[in-house]
Amino acid sequence: MKPIKVGLLGLGTVGTGVVRIVEGHQEDLQSQTGSAIEIAKVLVSNKSKARDISIDASKLTEDPWEIIHHPDIDVIVEVMGGIEQTKQYIIEALSRGKHVVTANKDLMALHGPEILAVAQEHGCDVLYEASVAGGIPIIRTLIEGFSSDRITKIMGIVNGTTNYILTKMSQEGASYSDVLKEAQALGYAEADPTSDVEGLDAARKMTILATLGFRANVALDDVSVQGISSVSREDIQYAKRLGYELKLLGIAERQDDEFSISVQPTMVKQTHPIASVNGVFNAVYVHGEAVGETMFYGPGAGGMPTATSIVADLVAVVKNLKLGVNGKQGIMTYKEKKLKTDEQ
Ligand code: NDP
Ligand code: HSE
Repeated sequence: MKPIKVGLLGLGTVGTGVVRIVEGHQEDLQSQTGSAIEIAKVLVSNKSKARDISIDASKLTEDPWEIIHHPDIDVIVEVMGGIEQTKQYIIEALSRGKHVVTANKDLMALHGPEILAVAQEHGCDVLYEASVAGGIPIIRTLIEGFSSDRITKIMGIVNGTTNYILTKMSQEGASYSDVLKEAQALGYAEADPTSDVEGLDAARKMTILATLGFRANVALDDVSVQGISSVSREDIQYAKRLGYELKLLGIAERQDDEFSISVQPTMVKQTHPIASVNGVFNAVYVHGEAVGETMFYGPGAGGMPTATSIVADLVAVVKNLKLGVNGKQGIMTYKEKKLKTDEQ
């Protein structure tokens, strides 16, 4: 099989991790897929910027259409972020028969159903494992691992930046603004960290998890959101004295055909496993009617963990290409479910 050519949109924290894994694990990837995987072109906003990775300068472009309209590129890996412009690139790529792997929860939470419908129309894959909980394969787990069960609750820490901040405030008495700067320097935070600290990033991720877990048409507006920007060191110390840790928790619950979803700072008993999820780590607790309680744990942000999920999606796309089944999996028809309101 000829090499699979990848167009990479973005060479920041995550894009650099993708190049490192594709290059560093090439032999292993090839043994799984039967094809070499080549990063053929890379979109950046500034070609002259100094980079943490050495890359053939002729591969870099500032023109997205050079990649999206490139006749030889089979797969687009989108790790540039943003919503409207990125949506336009992805829809155009799909309409040209290119498969898409993305880490973009902002885009998938808002426009996921539309993008998946376009993908289906053109027989393309859109895979987005990296969009929730970085290195934890939670999306595949919800779609495939729990396909036999009815999930009643999904609860977790799904934002690495805020968990990093709360952990440092709790364990070291560090100041909120200092630790936020550290999380930005480590590449955990979003380009605009307001979405992390105000809970929007977690709400977007909970929208994706609840859609897949409950097999329901869940919208971002269905999530009630409160972030951590007004949490003080005193709040955290007070909770500790009472035997709790303060965590930014996403909680999605379903009862029959009704669901509720929230993201808010929550006091978690120190004896609960979620209380000891610290730093950039995430954890997702899933309760199913048949399976009972399960929990998944791992790094929720950072270049290499996130890239692990992206390259796993890339491997899945290439395997599908070999079998000729792209765009034929993961097609679900969701039942309408009602948002539970206080009046009900
Ligand atoms: P970065 O800001 O580190 O990198 C973004 C990259 O995209 C840069 O290379 C930048 O170019 C390029 N870029 C951005 N906008 C444009 C544009 N309009 N035209 C051309 N190039 C552009 O972001 P991250 O790697 O941290 O995140 C990327 C995506 O992955 C986001 O959607 C984020 O939400 C998601 N994500 C991030 C995680 C993380 O831990 N960081 C974890 C999970 C998901 P240049 O280098 O020239 O500036
Ligand atoms: N800013 C996000 C976080 C990146 O901190 O969790 C991973 O999605």
